[in-house]
Amino acid sequence: MKTYTIITGASKGIGKAFAFECAAKKMNLILVARSAELLNKLADELTATGVEVKTIAIDLLEAKAADKIFDRIKSEQWNVNMLINNAGIGDHGAFAKQSLQHQLNTMQLNMNVMVEMAYLFLHNSDKTQKRYILNTASTGAFQPVPNFSIYTATKAFILSFTESLHFEMKQQLVHVTALCPGGTETEFFSGSENMQKVVKKNQAYMMPAKDVALQGLEGLLKNKTIIIPGLVNKVGAVAAQLMPRKMVVSTAAKFFDIKE
Ligand SMILES: NC(=O)c1ccc[n+]([C@@H]2O[C@H](COP(=O)([O-])OP(=O)(O)OC[C@H]3O[C@@H](n4cnc5c(N)ncnc54)[C@H](OP(=O)(O)O)[C@@H]3O)[C@@H](O)[C@H]2O)c1
Repeated sequence: MKTYTIITGASKGIGKAFAFECAAKKMNLILVARSAELLNKLADELTATGVEVKTIAIDLLEAKAADKIFDRIKSEQWNVNMLINNAGIGDHGAFAKQSLQHQLNTMQLNMNVMVEMAYLFLHNSDKTQKRYILNTASTGAFQPVPNFSIYTATKAFILSFTESLHFEMKQQLVHVTALCPGGTETEFFSGSENMQKVVKKNQAYMMPAKDVALQGLEGLLKNKTIIIPGLVNKVGAVAAQLMPRKMVVSTAAKFFDIKE
């Protein structure tokens, strides 16, 4: 029976790179994001490589978005065996100066929607086959970062959730992996002026989305718990585990030029 991989946040950046890496492995795809036009263009390109591609254009912040996606999957009888839970947003700026609604939306998309997608996937996929869940976290999951407070907290949540789920699913033919990229060349930083400043500061460490997605996909297939692409990012994540907590926060603040 034909199987499909669901990719959220597939229209751009890391999600789009995942779509190409999956297609290169002859995996059929269900691409999810808001931009129907970008999804359709991408679907045409990928279909030409010989895989089957479906698109679901939906705002994941709308009520019951995850339910709507799985209702469609059930009604079309698409057999899903992999979920790449990748859609996420974030912004840079002091907590008290940012819009509260935007920060609540960041929490909703990065945590609640990701959890709903994982839960519905586990309950709406064939348990007798090997199944796969990749959750995109961030190196921000390893340390609190002032002026990225909500974003890094959501990523710490994803990392913790994914590590537990990996353990719970060990005996059940379900691979579960957290992908923790550092700075990656995507449109993620294009939104606000603050974000563009962050990218300028990190230019030397930015990785291509293709490398990040490939390492994520290969780690998922091998059932690695955590994948941190890039040596600098790996060293940073380990250092954050070893340093005293207070020093971790002040070092992160210094890195982003944030004064106490
Ligand atoms: N870039 C980095 O440096 C970096 C580092 C660490 C972790 N990450 C994580 O990697 C993941 C992908 O980010 P990226 O860098 O590829 O960012 P991106 O280029 O901005 O892409 C984000 C994707 O998410 C989709 N999306 C955003 N809001 C959505 C919504 N409300 N409903 C449905 N889809 C939505 C976007 O599609 P539409 O706009 O078409 O909806 C797009 O496909 C995120 O979880 C991010 O936190 C990124």
